[in-house]
Amino acid sequence: VKEDKSFEKKMNYTNKVIERFKSPKHMGELKEANGKGKVGNPVCGDVMEVAIKVENNIIVDAKVKTFGCVAAISTSDVVCELAIGKTIGDAEQITKADVVSKLEDLPPEKIHCSLLGLDALKKAISAYKEKH
Ligand code: FES
Repeated sequence: VKEDKSFEKKMNYTNKVIERFKSPKHMGELKEANGKGKVGNPVCGDVMEVAIKVENNIIVDAKVKTFGCVAAISTSDVVCELAIGKTIGDAEQITKADVVSKLEDLPPEKIHCSLLGLDALKKAISAYKEKH
């Protein structure tokens, strides 16, 4: 019981994380996607796929399908938000710190979740580049 309590304490998510988790803005299928990137973390078992729609070198839309923890869902949603409106070059420069600061903060053991979303975005961009 003691251990459970400390675990909960560690998973002290900011309100921004919880809000985002409860009402994500970019979850789902992107029918007109022209680049997709899927990543998984074998340790936690979380999987996500980011899909982007690029027009004239700009990411005009992005959506994600995430099967994972609270942090995975909220960070991957933020990754889409940060990517939309950016050129593919600028989207490649989005950092883990950009994602985390949008959510104010993340518990240290949840930082890898934000990296997963970025990896998926970067894979989606490479897939787009290969085709175009
Ligand atoms: Fe692995 Fe969140 S615990 S992505």
